Amino acid sequence: MWDNTFSLLGQGYAWLPDLARRQGHGPVRTRLLGKPALALRGPAAVRFFYDEDHVRRHTALPEPVLSTLFGKGAVHTLDGPEHRARKALFVSLLRDADGVRDLTERVGTEWDRAVVDWRERPQVTLFDEVSLLLTRAVCGWAGIPPGRQNPSEMRELADDLVAMVDGFATAGPRHLRARRARRRQEERFAQVVEETRRTRVPAGGTGVVHAVAAHRDADGMPLDARTAAVELLNVLRPTVAITWFTVFGAHALHRNPHLRERLARERDALPRAFAHEVRRFYPFAPFTAGLASRPLEWQGATLPEGGLVLLDLYGQNHDPELWDSPYTFDPERFTGREPGRDELVPQGGGETSAGHRCPGEDITLAVLTCLLPRLARLDHRVPAQDLRIPLRRVPTRPRSGFVVSEVARRV
Ligand code: HEM
Repeated sequence: MWDNTFSLLGQGYAWLPDLARRQGHGPVRTRLLGKPALALRGPAAVRFFYDEDHVRRHTALPEPVLSTLFGKGAVHTLDGPEHRARKALFVSLLRDADGVRDLTERVGTEWDRAVVDWRERPQVTLFDEVSLLLTRAVCGWAGIPPGRQNPSEMRELADDLVAMVDGFATAGPRHLRARRARRRQEERFAQVVEETRRTRVPAGGTGVVHAVAAHRDADGMPLDARTAAVELLNVLRPTVAITWFTVFGAHALHRNPHLRERLARERDALPRAFAHEVRRFYPFAPFTAGLASRPLEWQGATLPEGGLVLLDLYGQNHDPELWDSPYTFDPERFTGREPGRDELVPQGGGETSAGHRCPGEDITLAVLTCLLPRLARLDHRVPAQDLRIPLRRVPTRPRSGFVVSEVARRV
């Protein structure tokens, strides 16, 4: 069988659905990165995939992904007790309701402040504005020292965090930009960790920076400064990545103007349902991957030990067996009901603390539930621009970045 690495890079989000269509029903068999690979989808497949007896993460991610998106030694690459100890750090920081509320309030304040500035400008690109305001909010929340939060540093950091996501799945200039961004910010945050440690903050001190600096791994040892920087960036970068979903939310509102008034007015139910539907409908993480811990069999397909197992996140979120009219944007599918644990998987599936499911889902939903109604209330125009979302590009976004003009004088 041909190795499909180049097809993946060339076809992007269309690659797995295309193979699935050609192979018919069941798991997709292919080759990727020189290895046999099996792509799965569906709630039962999610449970199979997140069983460590079936799939491990150590050495699963290729170097170009680690040197851009996640960082070497990141929680994403750990298994067993090492993973559980590191994951506990993220879960305690990111799933604490008061902490999530505090971050969300900061995001709301930054948005309201930014709108005051947008009123003075003929037009702004939402993608660039939202990445900056999320960077400011998360740096304040995480306890990044104020001396490292001046405006030019914030813009550079926002651009670097975006670049790390933007360049992980491509060869060429975007990828080189992502590598440079990661190198620069790992160096910067390793210094922040060392400075924090020199101030001898006791374990349990407040803020993400202090918690990461004080964290001890399963072996009882603190993280070396570089790995601590990697994990600090694993909080900052994905929070800023909510920019993608916010801009997709703007796109959804533009295409479905009948939803605007209700979204602007309603408090909880519709904004949350809208946030779920944005996460389901729009393409962001195409799949997640691990290596077969032993020879595996799934629905009649076999994979040798060390083969690649892909969980087809984008495919599952558009699977007609799970969703009525999957290519229709309809937040009502989530009003009055929360999705099942292994049904909606834009940020992975399974249990958060035990497996590799994203620990930032509460934050993602809370931030979107805060920003989408504000977006619906924003009095603005959407000038002519290229709003196409190319499926060949991973990650993708509206080509124009979503330009808004004539922002009126009310928040
Ligand atoms: C893991 C997506 C937001 C922190 C993941 C995974 C995905 C994902 C697909 C991998 C799941 C797996 O491999 O099984 C997203 C998307 C987000 C988002 C689309 C929205 C922009 C966040 C936020 C944070 C965060 C806001 C933190 C503030 C993490 C961490 C992991 C992770 C630390 C690694 C978990 C582990 O390996 O145990 N995310 N995420 N993410 N995410 Fe997110």
